[in-house]
Amino acid sequence: MKVLLQMPGRDVEAWRAAVASALPEAEIAVWPVAPADPDYALVWRPPAELFARVRPAKAIFNLGAGVDALLAVPTLPRDVPVIRLADAGMAEQMAEYVTLAVLRAYREMDAYAEQQRDVRWQPRPRLAKREFGIGLMGFGVLGQAIAAALAPFGFPLASWSRTRKSVDGVTSHVGSAELPVFLTTTKVLVCTLPATPATTGILDRGALSQLPQGAHVVNIARGDLVVDADLIALLDSGHLAGATLDVFATEPLPVDHAFWHHPRVAVTPHVSAVTLIRESVAQVAAGIRRIEKGEPAVGVVDRHRGY
Ligand SMILES: NC(=O)c1ccc[n+]([C@@H]2O[C@H](COP(=O)([O-])OP(=O)(O)OC[C@H]3O[C@@H](n4cnc5c(N)ncnc54)[C@H](OP(=O)(O)O)[C@@H]3O)[C@@H](O)[C@H]2O)c1
Repeated sequence: MKVLLQMPGRDVEAWRAAVASALPEAEIAVWPVAPADPDYALVWRPPAELFARVRPAKAIFNLGAGVDALLAVPTLPRDVPVIRLADAGMAEQMAEYVTLAVLRAYREMDAYAEQQRDVRWQPRPRLAKREFGIGLMGFGVLGQAIAAALAPFGFPLASWSRTRKSVDGVTSHVGSAELPVFLTTTKVLVCTLPATPATTGILDRGALSQLPQGAHVVNIARGDLVVDADLIALLDSGHLAGATLDVFATEPLPVDHAFWHHPRVAVTPHVSAVTLIRESVAQVAAGIRRIEKGEPAVGVVDRHRGY
């Protein structure tokens, strides 16, 4: 079995070693060395040149959960299945990140930090939890793991997705018709939508202004979902209380971007969930074994939906 591995950055040797250990029978080439006809390609943000030179016979594995960058590669063969990572150790990290952001908002830690800077001892009244709804925009692998992590705290939980969900303790909303009721009852909006033609720019002034006064936005999905100027305008006007942003339309976030110095914005450098080599390779190897046994592949991306 021939496997082509393409992973930008300095970890490539660790990826190669992990693939070699999980698939000892594989003949592994590391991009830019490449056989023209590997059985499988394991890629992350590949250059267009890769699929101009290489046509994987059986499947292309995306070494991340989001396939927006891969589907945008103009040379990507249309008829080879694309398989994405699902969880692979990311759900736990996302649950940590979002729980921190939600509790920081609910327990008003930013307000207390400001009071401390002013040397001001001023207890604030406890916020009513029943009015502090958490809205999970995108309710797939990551959204559902986040809901499970938040469940013990007792916040009202709601989801918004394309198809109806039935998860205990989470009110499901679907489609554009139910977006307004989802937004108006959401005090902390947690976005885990994939970036697709249908979701790009979805968090614009029209949507964000439907969130209640004092709401927070947590974006751990893709920067392209948010219209930055609209988010900043609503933070500046005081309609929104804060934003916790891990992903940006341009990464690294440009040094002159307003998010860096905005008093109501917390910026992290795309670290809410890092790709874990061992877990990811184990999932890819299990996927390859399934295909080799003639079983249906799991995690195949629907090109039409874009995720
Ligand atoms: N910051 C990071 O480090 C990081 C790490 C991993 C992933 N991510 C991002 O997180 C995204 C989500 O990952 P995941 O594994 O949770 O994906 P997933 O399991 O495919 O879930 C995506 C969710 O979004 C919903 N959705 C998609 N398009 C929609 C639309 N037009 N309207 C309403 N709902 C829509 C889906 O609805 P249905 O359930 O009805 O299909 C699903 O609930 C990835 O695409 C990636 O961009 C970021």
